Amino acid sequence: MKNNSYTVAVLGAGNIGSAVISRLLHLDNEVININLSKVLVSDSTKDRDFDSNLITEDFNEIANDENIDLVIEVLGGVEPGKEYIKELLQKGKSVITANKDIIADCGEELIKTAQENNACLYFEAAVAAGIPVLKPLIESLRGEELSRVAGIINGTSNYILTAMEEGSTYGDALQNAQELGYAEPDPTNDVEGIDAKYKAMILSLLCFGVSPSTDDVYTEGISKITKEDFDWAKRLNKTIKLVAQIDNSQEGFNARVYPVLVDSKHPLAAIRGALNAVLVEGENINQLVFSGPGAGAAPTASAIIGDVLSACHQMASNQTNWYPLRTPKTGDKAIKDVDSSWFIRLSVKDEPGVLAAIASLFGKNNVSIESVIQEGRGDNAELVLVTHEASEHNLTSSIDSIANLDSVSSVTSTIRVYL
Ligand code: HSE
Repeated sequence: MKNNSYTVAVLGAGNIGSAVISRLLHLDNEVININLSKVLVSDSTKDRDFDSNLITEDFNEIANDENIDLVIEVLGGVEPGKEYIKELLQKGKSVITANKDIIADCGEELIKTAQENNACLYFEAAVAAGIPVLKPLIESLRGEELSRVAGIINGTSNYILTAMEEGSTYGDALQNAQELGYAEPDPTNDVEGIDAKYKAMILSLLCFGVSPSTDDVYTEGISKITKEDFDWAKRLNKTIKLVAQIDNSQEGFNARVYPVLVDSKHPLAAIRGALNAVLVEGENINQLVFSGPGAGAAPTASAIIGDVLSACHQMASNQTNWYPLRTPKTGDKAIKDVDSSWFIRLSVKDEPGVLAAIASLFGKNNVSIESVIQEGRGDNAELVLVTHEASEHNLTSSIDSIANLDSVSSVTSTIRVYL
């Protein structure tokens, strides 16, 4: 600390980096004085909106500069950012990052490295960008045993699903999301639930002390959802959302990401467009919902600047990282043992005995049916069923056997119902 003045460097000057640099250069904080000293870029010949004297292409100029107290990593991707963060923390420099891929991959190790080196490592922007959610979860709810954290934590997929609810096809909605800059040219991570999985892994670590591997988090995306699924959801007074859900009870811990039918009156149903929301449940708080912009340069920079100021306050009072890791309270529960209720669409031949055969296979697998609707006649009838809660294992076994019936042409959709 030098009279509440801190020297800061930024790794990366892309979309997010530029927004962060602009905020740092115009920051008017009454308590902390921030001095931006260096910006790492890959091409120093490119025109920038800031003083070219700040620019360097050499990471070592930042890592070895003893005057730099704190470094903001906004390079994107895993390498070289991961190695840079480790080296900076080992040198006792505090680090702020928005990089969910790195934190999902080795967040626990990096937090410990920060603590061992009396440095701060904060990453509020890595989950739900502009919504301050990690700090309240860790700090304000520190005394609370949380039973569930569930969220719409990918703005691109929520934008697509909202457009489909309003009548768009998946293809048109995806194209619009790309034109608006929400989805990447290769949208796989957003639409296949991978981005949400990484964020769920970070929430698992911070809220429950569990650091699942990518394989541990069962993940399905939204690319198979159709306009007809939305038509049916509407008839059932529901909508469809991509939800990352982490449950922690005496029965076990499970984190998963998949599309779910959500009751139209549920708070998550009201989260539209590219917005995000994180819902938290615990015995004393009942249910809290944080919502707001979960993507974009300005909201991400807002979370980063908040982290920078928090870290400077920590350094001013000689405190170490305030991300205390909780101890896991329970063992893992495999996805096959998680109880779900499923919405199922089947294309069937309308002939005597079809419904009885399907009901019998559900019964044999211990799955009870809540409702059945049939539409159409002849070879192209559609059966729409909603089951009561049953284990994923029993539900998938039922569907596998039903798909083999001669009278069933196809299993058109299976979507879980949010419970
Ligand atoms: N691509 C993400 C989203 C934002 O659409 O929510 C960055 O995590």
